[in-house]
Amino acid sequence: MNNSRFRTRAVHAGHGLEPSTGAHAVPIFQTSTFGYGDADRGERLFSGQERGYFYSRLGNPTVRAFEEKLASLEGTQDAVAFASGMGAVSALALTVLKPGDEVAFIGPLYGGTEGFFRHILDKFGVTVWEADDLDDLAARLTPNVRMVYVETPTNPTLRITDLKRAADLAHSVGALAVADNTFASPALTRPAEHGIDVVLHSATKYLGGHGDAIGGILAGNADLMGELRVTGLRHVGASLGPQEAYLFLRGMKTLPLRMDAHCAGAQMIAEHFRAHPAIRAVYYPGLPEHAGHNVAARQMRAFGGMVSFDLHGGYDAAKAFLNGLGLFVQAVSLGDVESLSCHPASTTHQLLGADTLARQGVTPGLARLSVGIEDPLDLIEDIERALEHVTVAPTL
Ligand SMILES: Cc1ncc(COP(=O)(O)O)c(C=O)c1O
Repeated sequence: MNNSRFRTRAVHAGHGLEPSTGAHAVPIFQTSTFGYGDADRGERLFSGQERGYFYSRLGNPTVRAFEEKLASLEGTQDAVAFASGMGAVSALALTVLKPGDEVAFIGPLYGGTEGFFRHILDKFGVTVWEADDLDDLAARLTPNVRMVYVETPTNPTLRITDLKRAADLAHSVGALAVADNTFASPALTRPAEHGIDVVLHSATKYLGGHGDAIGGILAGNADLMGELRVTGLRHVGASLGPQEAYLFLRGMKTLPLRMDAHCAGAQMIAEHFRAHPAIRAVYYPGLPEHAGHNVAARQMRAFGGMVSFDLHGGYDAAKAFLNGLGLFVQAVSLGDVESLSCHPASTTHQLLGADTLARQGVTPGLARLSVGIEDPLDLIEDIERALEHVTVAPTL
């Protein structure tokens, strides 16, 4: 199976016919516990001498099929699923970090991740710092850095980081290179092919794709995934349920097809509005003028389904625009077949505070669009109508 092409693996990897019944769809193993037969076997399962299912916090066959499919799509040895993307972030941190370690990241990150790094990790004696870019990271790296964390494209400014260079820099000080691949999905970028050690997803987004389940997953080498299973699932316990795993398995079968539609729509929207008088800047890595376009063209198969507009006129303009949209429902989250829109500075990134957001370009005028798979011409008309609500101040 792992020699098959991506679209074939998206459909088939991680499961075959269920052996006891021949069920074609992966059954939802809706059980908390598994009878292990006799006391000796129970001891062997708990000590890890024998592999098998015994308690769904630590492993469940439906969840396992999701892990295997994602590992196959990312091209990693293994993967471990969690109850949410944030469950994956916190399990990773609690597994690999210890007091005295440093975490370096390139911002902005998703507000929840950056908030966890900035406001929670310092309680555990871990220092967290933000590098402006990879040059800044290279200049400031020390042997205390245990984890270099990047998101590409970033949420919400669609900044691009060169994954190979980030991985090389991390490895130069013995640190773990981690990439949040939520925005790209493995259909567009496979960070492990560029040397990244751990790939993270909010499965809630493109992997599921239908806005009906919350989940997260980490992918990487088998040893580290084994450690994550022990710390992240046994001790922290943010485990994914089988219903959600089933929905992710179903969603991932169409991931490559959906991503093609998301990317085509987003590219059309970005090109159509790049010179609109109400918009100060359109952020989309598929535009040649985007600062990360060349790197994105190297490491992405296409440029993704997320577009952000920075509107002239700040928060008032962003609000008028978002309130004027019809097809783009105002809601956080992204990656659904339905188009969504949000104002990051007042919602997903609010906790980071005005100074950090201003420095990172998450301005009051920034509106984030998650382009769904509807007909792009309808989406363009919807955006045009909404922009009519925005008053553009005359340039002096
Ligand atoms: C890039 C990115 N990473 C991680 C997360 C966290 O995922 P979850 O909401 O599934 O916990 C999000 C959520 O929006 C995200 O956008």
